[in-house]
Amino acid sequence: MKRRPLIIDTDPGVDDAIAILLALASPELDLLGICAVAGNVPLAATQDNARRICELAGRPDIPVYAGCPRPMLREQIFGKYSGVSGLGGTLLPPPSMPLMHGHAVDFLLDTLDEAAQGRREKVTICAIGPLTDLGVVFSMRPSVVRGIERLVIMGGAFSALGNRTPSAEYNILADPHAARIVFSSGAPITLAPLDMTFRALAKPEWVASLKALKRRVASVAAELITFYDRNDPERYGEVGGPLHDPTTVAWLLRPEFFTGRDVFVDVDCEGHLTLGHTQADWRGKTGCPANAHVLTGIDAPAFFAFLKERLAAYE
Ligand code: RIB
Ligand code: CA
Repeated sequence: MKRRPLIIDTDPGVDDAIAILLALASPELDLLGICAVAGNVPLAATQDNARRICELAGRPDIPVYAGCPRPMLREQIFGKYSGVSGLGGTLLPPPSMPLMHGHAVDFLLDTLDEAAQGRREKVTICAIGPLTDLGVVFSMRPSVVRGIERLVIMGGAFSALGNRTPSAEYNILADPHAARIVFSSGAPITLAPLDMTFRALAKPEWVASLKALKRRVASVAAELITFYDRNDPERYGEVGGPLHDPTTVAWLLRPEFFTGRDVFVDVDCEGHLTLGHTQADWRGKTGCPANAHVLTGIDAPAFFAFLKERLAAYE
């Protein structure tokens, strides 16, 4: 089977952990490395968590690099839903695999440069934390976008209300300037915004069915998701809490589960009340060409059945 080369840029984070586990359970993907960025929790914890998750998955061979410790310009804000450790109350053993020596930005620059020059296959990136590492990469060497096959980003809120301010989603709000650089980079972007992920609701029965598999990875996933649960039927219209980040990996593997549209997306970097708001030009008012494929819908039952099948495959 031809495997798609993938890099995950992430701030684990409970839903990041599930996204990494999904990628590592998927033979279609060749995970070249994980770049940890500050986000849900400080960088020291995100890089440590990324390694704990790789070890849980039995993949201590995956290179994990530490990336940017703070956003480009704004003051730092951390996440609210993954606990102080980033992995809720779940106790995964401290990692024995080493952190790579280089910086995540250098790893991205070198790998994408090779791909841009045709010395390796183009690389897909799932960016599921603040976009700082990629903002720096595209500022340092804009030509590396030619080495990107697809950049799948979890972030943004259009019709949906924000999850951190009334108008902004966390990953974009945490580094709006980096996000703006990324959206204007020319990279082929697929965006998984809250509008779609608010329909990817992990239901208590589904979490219980994961636990009932009585397998280590599935049980840890169930424990993580139980901690992360933001069950709020009044807000989401039904029972369950959204599982944002794994939808990016699922889109790569099962795009037929999703619907979406090509549109022009920009980020508010100045607004006093609307900082980090993403705006999509649904009706072509700006005259700007589309720069992202925005996912608008998900077949949630199919997504959760698929995720469970992949998590069950461990061991
Ligand atoms: O808004 C959802 C995003 O922010 C996800 O990437 C999640 O990990 C978070 O904190
Ligand atoms: Ca995340």
